[in-house]
Amino acid sequence: MSSGDVGATWALIAAAGSGERLVIDRPKAFVGLGGRPLLAESLDRLDRCELVDAIVVAAPPGWEEPSILLAEELAVSKVVACVTGGATRVQSVAAALFEVPVGALVVLVHDAARPLVSDAVVERLVGPLREGYDGAVPALPVADTLKRVEDGVVAETVPREGLVRAQTPQAFLAPSLRKAFAGQIAGATDCASLVEQSGGRVAVVEGDPRLLKITTQADLALVESWL
Ligand code: C5P
Repeated sequence: MSSGDVGATWALIAAAGSGERLVIDRPKAFVGLGGRPLLAESLDRLDRCELVDAIVVAAPPGWEEPSILLAEELAVSKVVACVTGGATRVQSVAAALFEVPVGALVVLVHDAARPLVSDAVVERLVGPLREGYDGAVPALPVADTLKRVEDGVVAETVPREGLVRAQTPQAFLAPSLRKAFAGQIAGATDCASLVEQSGGRVAVVEGDPRLLKITTQADLALVESWL
């Protein structure tokens, strides 16, 4: 990938989760954050990111229309498709990836549940792709001691050296991501693991604590305080 090729970068937003742990009457992507649906934050931010050319949203089943209306209300210009998400995150990403044209060079995959995506992290991710990596993920160090637990008893203390916490967005050369999705995808919790499995090299760049994934009401309140 040469620097002149960045014109074909597609961002996929996985927004089809139910958000059961938030205990709300709507899918997580539509919970309120700073007075608008959670999905609005990543839509807006990725739309304004100069490195992103086009966006595909994987919406919760039955929420395709509200997702399109939201994009219209926000007057975002890069959303080219809104697909129905699948039963799992990886299936939602697969449905969105289907919309990416053959000519695309780079695909960013992002979770709507991590609303505070920044230009800086996208810039950090694209760097390794220019150097020949198949993918790049933002990650944070592990601060706590890790233990493997079986039936409530510690079975092992896991050395944390070399371990990191992977976030999204994750960036991939489009052919590498397609190759990864052509294989067995069930059970994957992120896209990088599929690229790794299919033989791709994935670089790690500095993550961002503000890319916290909203899972609980406490996460929602914390991210809201950072807006
Ligand atoms: O459930 P969790 O918060 O880990 O999901 C991570 C991201 O994947 C969220 O943005 C969620 O909307 C998305 N997702 C999806 N389709 C699913 C499940 C989760 O797009 N079936």
